[in-house]
Amino acid sequence: MPKLIIDGTEIEVEDGITLIQACEQASVEIPRFCYHERLSIAGNCRMCLVEVAGMPKPIASCALGVNDLRPGPNGEPPEIHTKSETVKKAREGVMEFLLINHPLDCPICDQGGECDLQDQAMAFGVDGSRFKENKRAVEDKNIGPLIKTIMTRCIHCTRCVRFMTEVAGVSELGMTGRGEDVEITTYLEQGMTSEMSGNVIDLCPVGALTSKPYAFSARPWELRKTESIDVMDAIGANIRVDSRGREIMRFLPRNHDDVNEEWISDKTRFVWDGLRTQRLDQPYIRTRGKLRPATWDEAFAAIAKKIKRGNGKKLAAIAGDLAGAEEMFAMHDLMTSLGSANIDCRQDGAAISPNAGRGSYLFNSGISEIDETDAILLIGCDPRNEAATLNARIRRRWRTGKLRVGLVGQETDLTYEHDYIGAGPDSLKALAQGKHGFTKVLKKAKKPMKVYKPPKTRPEQR
Ligand code: SF4
Ligand code: FES
Repeated sequence: MPKLIIDGTEIEVEDGITLIQACEQASVEIPRFCYHERLSIAGNCRMCLVEVAGMPKPIASCALGVNDLRPGPNGEPPEIHTKSETVKKAREGVMEFLLINHPLDCPICDQGGECDLQDQAMAFGVDGSRFKENKRAVEDKNIGPLIKTIMTRCIHCTRCVRFMTEVAGVSELGMTGRGEDVEITTYLEQGMTSEMSGNVIDLCPVGALTSKPYAFSARPWELRKTESIDVMDAIGANIRVDSRGREIMRFLPRNHDDVNEEWISDKTRFVWDGLRTQRLDQPYIRTRGKLRPATWDEAFAAIAKKIKRGNGKKLAAIAGDLAGAEEMFAMHDLMTSLGSANIDCRQDGAAISPNAGRGSYLFNSGISEIDETDAILLIGCDPRNEAATLNARIRRRWRTGKLRVGLVGQETDLTYEHDYIGAGPDSLKALAQGKHGFTKVLKKAKKPMKVYKPPKTRPEQR
């Protein structure tokens, strides 16, 4: 393992990492805009400059591998300075350049209070500028109903472009022009269609890309932050629910390396605005065939009266798809106390049977095992639309060139190459009999994985 001296402290770091990661391991903070550990290295913002002893000028620490550093003349480990006068001046210079064209409209910017540029300008910048020229203006782009753009604020870090190309797997954003005319835009100014597009809001280190539904509705310090789990798909992505009073203002991802990493799908991110409209906010009681508005107390009294009068065995309860475990458990207790065993949560006809055990509906191998697998057979599922973060993980593994994917079911664009085997049981049979080339792939695979979605059945078929 390579040894380094960072700010006078000798440290042994992992092989193959970059200098910025080595500094992190040494608990030294390096400012950055374009670097992101889950994206490829661009090295274009120059904010992460450090001084390497023996090198004539500061070096972008995100773009230099620790293994590329040469030891000193007597074999001593390479020496890195992150707090020297040279580094301080270099950072101030970079910040001054970045702010030449940035509008500094923080009071009316939705990123205010959680903006990397704002924070790093405070920590590493200076309080003045030598540039007196007019700032350039860039026209805002309409890239759909979810993401608001104020492109004059963009500092061209290209995190958004790299995310869309590498993680989401759709090249919908790109950089056009040169020098002062450089712009981030969708191709032909079309809207973004990716199911993961909202993640660019979190990635953008300035207020160039922000959430359209959330625009101008709250400041981060007003919000109560509650850690939670997403229920919009079967992944269980880790999220944070930001609320003000009784109102949910937004959902943000939380990092969980084994589940969603730090991404969430647009379905998860933007579902909150549906919580405000067309909700059950007024109970009604039917009296003599007519519905009349009632209070919640009256409504619950009416329910209790009916239940007490009836026979418990004739009662049944069905839990909805979005009910939480605690709510379902409370319902189970209530129905048991009333003498009813008629409870179910498969109101959509999902063919999940308690007799087949938990293994019949869990993702048994674990989502993080996708990083190890060498062959995946997808049966009757469309991970891109049904579990977007899982699909992004499959794509990442596929990009290493060590994964082959086969699909049985409806053909769809999965953002990675796959062998389409066919639809229906015949294709599975052909696969089992070795009549399809993918059989060999599965046989050769050391860690194959099958991802299977149970079909829905009609209640009478259960
Ligand atoms: S829009 Fe934001 S994320 Fe994209 S290049 Fe500009 S500053 Fe970076
Ligand atoms: S973070 Fe290193 S150049 Fe941008």
